[in-house]
Amino acid sequence: MATSEQIKLLLESHYKNDGDRFTSMALQVAAHEARKGNIIIAKEIKSLVDKSRSGGFKVIRLNKDISDLVLPYYPENSLNELVISNEIKRKLERIIKEYKLRDKIQKHGLENRRKILLSGKPGTGKTLTASILSGELKLPLYVIMMDKLMTKYMGETATKLRLIFDMMSSNRGVYLFDEFDAIGAERARDNEVGEMRRVLNAFLQFIEQDSSESLIIGATNNINILDSALFRRFDDIITYSVPEEKEIESLIKIKLGNYLAKFSLKKIVSTAIGLSHAEITSACNDALKETILTDKEKVTQKLLLQTIIDRIMYYTDIG
Ligand SMILES: Nc1ncnc2c1ncn2[C@@H]1O[C@H](COP(=O)(O)OP(=O)(O)OP(=O)(O)O)[C@@H](O)[C@H]1O
Ligand SMILES: [Mg+2]
Repeated sequence: MATSEQIKLLLESHYKNDGDRFTSMALQVAAHEARKGNIIIAKEIKSLVDKSRSGGFKVIRLNKDISDLVLPYYPENSLNELVISNEIKRKLERIIKEYKLRDKIQKHGLENRRKILLSGKPGTGKTLTASILSGELKLPLYVIMMDKLMTKYMGETATKLRLIFDMMSSNRGVYLFDEFDAIGAERARDNEVGEMRRVLNAFLQFIEQDSSESLIIGATNNINILDSALFRRFDDIITYSVPEEKEIESLIKIKLGNYLAKFSLKKIVSTAIGLSHAEITSACNDALKETILTDKEKVTQKLLLQTIIDRIMYYTDIG
């Protein structure tokens, strides 16, 4: 069954005549059912949505020129999944609040924050943040396929970029430019062929002119190589880092939940310092799988310490 929150949002979007949101909610209900194993009902909902699309109902329809460049997702992530410093949490809450109350802000000639640059080490939650903003704001997440944008259409990249920015006005959503340095690197300025420079200049111009209601998110783990002209085009720059002790502890507790046996996490936390959220999450999953496969009920201290150490070794092996 769909949650009452989903039903409420479906009704709300229906009465507000918000076709995009209605479709996005219906697809979220389908995804919710699919995750619970109710595949038949999920498919039925999906096919109802598809039928209504072909009937001309205003829904998410990707321009065919960019349909392989922009992948839509309907995440249901929420802010409490993210283990993060209070400062970052406050910034994300502010983006969410300003979006939800944007009418109020706009009446005074101001804009809600919606052009956001996320920077920081790999595995610290940048991509997850884009899913969370999308989930919290009930907006589809559109992920721009950077490799296709940048290589396949070399020579046409600026034109494709224009189409993506046009889409931001017609299809409200969260647009994620992951590995943003591919577009924004400073060295593009000195690019001999001029193509990279054209792309960077086009992006600078488009993002400056953009007055859509979509959120534009750039994510990079190499902010130092970005062209400085980019920075003032973003409303917020948020820097992520590997978790501190307190955060490591919360992350382990969130990831293992009831499977965590009762023991002090002190030793494990001090061992895990320096690992990213993603690496700690993988260590927790490894411990969880081992526990399930050996028919045990709880993840023990010994096992978790071992999977954490394995992750450190893995990291040193490849690093
Ligand atoms: N701050 C966090 N809080 C909770 N879980 C996290 C956090 N960061 C990462 N994770 C876990 O690690 C996974 C991978 O993280 P994510 O893809 O967001 O990293 P990223 O910062 O985008 O890394 P990259 O720079 O390599 O793209 C997430 O799906 C989540 O399970
Ligand atoms: Mg990422």
